[in-house]
Amino acid sequence: MDAEPLEICLEDHDLGHGLREDARAGLAATPKWLPPKWFYDARGSELFEEITRLPEYYPTRAERAVLAERAGQIAELTGAKTLIELGSGSSEKTRLLLDAFTRRRGLGTFVPLDVSVSALRDSTERIAADYPGLRVRGIVGDFTRHLDRLPAGGRRLVVFLGGTIGNLLPAERAGFLAAMRAALEPGDWLLVGTDLVKDPAVIVPAYDDAAGVTAEFNRNVLRVLNRELGADFDPAAFSHVALWDPEQEWIEMRLRAERPVRVRVLDLDVEFAVGEELRTEVSAKFRPERIAAELGAAGFAAEQFWTDAAGLFGVTLARAD
Ligand code: SAH
Ligand code: AVI
Repeated sequence: MDAEPLEICLEDHDLGHGLREDARAGLAATPKWLPPKWFYDARGSELFEEITRLPEYYPTRAERAVLAERAGQIAELTGAKTLIELGSGSSEKTRLLLDAFTRRRGLGTFVPLDVSVSALRDSTERIAADYPGLRVRGIVGDFTRHLDRLPAGGRRLVVFLGGTIGNLLPAERAGFLAAMRAALEPGDWLLVGTDLVKDPAVIVPAYDDAAGVTAEFNRNVLRVLNRELGADFDPAAFSHVALWDPEQEWIEMRLRAERPVRVRVLDLDVEFAVGEELRTEVSAKFRPERIAAELGAAGFAAEQFWTDAAGLFGVTLARAD
């Protein structure tokens, strides 16, 4: 079956509006910040895929190992008819689930949702070609705003992989989980991947690789601002910073001005002093008890928690109560 045409919850003008609002708020703030969803234009999505293959970036390999081991069990336990994936990107690891559901039969529809049109177009075409008989309905949307647009009915399994939930700040995460629960019926399922707290000597290199791919991914947000908002950032004026915050237990990615920088963004004159930093992402790492507690507070019961053999990455299967 061909992939269905993408359902668009976010038109170009909504994306432009959102980026303008975020740039106005974040670049005028002290300290300066931008939300990470703006990394993912076509180039940013490609750079992320490159990151997943880096020797230092363990989360993708570790999560894939868990899914390879547990996909059959996930298909059996959930018996889902519809598989929904948030922040789906290339959906590469999700194929392990699709394979297991295909063996078991009964899954009718796959619904990946992502802000990145380019990533979604590629992935839906490839998955529709490789899984004949599966209905593939991609949604261009924002998982912090469009959960009410998910398909209703049938037993649903929502998967949120890669540790992307850790890119939300704690209050955003609580809001996201509450909205997720409100969009589901009792008996529906949520499968969520979380990177785990561990020695920062393992975590930091994953966000500051020797080949400099993560640095390019980080600077890509400046290229997005230049192209979409007519800003005039010189990405080369900024260095990549990956900092472990031991209190929050998260990595912060920042861009540090290496010389005084003055940029025009929309109607703002934005100045960076030498050494001033722009926060572009947090990537929270979790302890198992916190994952279960946050899910519980939102009305989910964590039924299974699995890790890879080295205990680097966790995958939780939770049921909507
Ligand atoms: N799930 C994949 C991709 C993770 S990268 C994996 O595990 O490898 C994060 C993905 O989330 C990107 O494809 C990005 O475009 C998407 N994304 C980031 N913020 C988003 C948001 N607010 N709404 C929808 N998608 C988002
Ligand atoms: C998508 N997300 C889970 C990635 C992460 O690890 O936080 C994004 C990323 N940022 C830097 N490298 C990868």
